[in-house]
Amino acid sequence: MTDAPYSRITGTGGYLPERIMTNAELEAVVDTSDAWIRERTGIEQRRIAADGETTCDLAEVASRQAMDAAGVTPQELDLILVATTTPDKIFPSTATLLQARLGNHGAPAFDLQAVCTGFVYALSVADQFIKTGMAKTVLVVGAETLSRITNWEDRNTCVLFGDGAGAVVLQASESPGILSTRIHADGQYETLLHVPSGPSRLPATDDVAERTMCMKGNEVFKVAVNTLSQIAADILSDNRISPDQLDWLVPHQANLRIINATARKLKLSPDQTVVTVDRHANTSSASIPLALNEAVRDGRIQKGELILLEAFGGGFTWGAALLRF
Ligand code: COA
Repeated sequence: MTDAPYSRITGTGGYLPERIMTNAELEAVVDTSDAWIRERTGIEQRRIAADGETTCDLAEVASRQAMDAAGVTPQELDLILVATTTPDKIFPSTATLLQARLGNHGAPAFDLQAVCTGFVYALSVADQFIKTGMAKTVLVVGAETLSRITNWEDRNTCVLFGDGAGAVVLQASESPGILSTRIHADGQYETLLHVPSGPSRLPATDDVAERTMCMKGNEVFKVAVNTLSQIAADILSDNRISPDQLDWLVPHQANLRIINATARKLKLSPDQTVVTVDRHANTSSASIPLALNEAVRDGRIQKGELILLEAFGGGFTWGAALLRF
């Protein structure tokens, strides 16, 4: 154990590709409407990576911003974690590609795949490394180019997702920091939200439906709302903290109705909930660090405030983190 047994976020960063795709543009592609998308999801637009722009490209910009904010150099990183479901390559990992870009040599670097819960999983892993003294300065990234696994002919899914990257630097600290994390999975829900093909099952298939996201949205919605309320209650109870002590909810950004349902159960006002889904759509593992970064940079989130992060995604996976910023 080190003499600094806690981990604390010391810098945040985010990056969105330049190209904005509005709901109106999607009206021209599938049988949908701006009004339907806004009403059912809260989404107004999303960002789409340019041709040739990869997950690692997005991750690099977000990571450099987070390291600048924390005042750390790439050489000081002793662990690099990238949560992603859309890696640049099957291997090497996006984390090692990022490591090479940043000019770090020798720190362990690996990808972590927990779909939309990926960032919370990665934060939890980083927290354990720091608490056990295995690392002092960790770069934790959530980065996605979901547009590459989107079926642009399927209105059930193509209106929901976007591309982006968010990052934090997590460092050993004498005061908390991360109070606790909880991560869970239940693989029985595989086919409610998945990409059917992969390098082992149906490699290099030409069938669009096989290599893009399929979802039973309605069923996912119901499980997500119940599970997120439960995990929020559980992590607060783990720490003997009541919802009225929270300053902020920074939720995974999948659907405004899911976010509002969780916030309502916690009796949090809308201005205590960070919402980016209207402009970013669902960027999977990038959505929480992007939202956190936005609220830190615009001055809403202040040092010392108590924040609940929570996420739900394919698998199903779900998780939460309670932290003092
Ligand atoms: N535009 C217009 N109509 C659409 C549509 C679209 N993009 N997508 C679906 N519809 C239609 C359906 O076909 C259905 O029509 P029908 O009544 O004639 O059969 C109707 O809208 C209602 O569909 P339903 O699936 O019940 O809508 P919903 O209120 O559940 O909203 C989602 C659909 C996908 C927005 C919602 O279920 C959701 O957000 N689920 C969670 C998804 C999620 O968060 N996934 C990621 C988890 S990390």
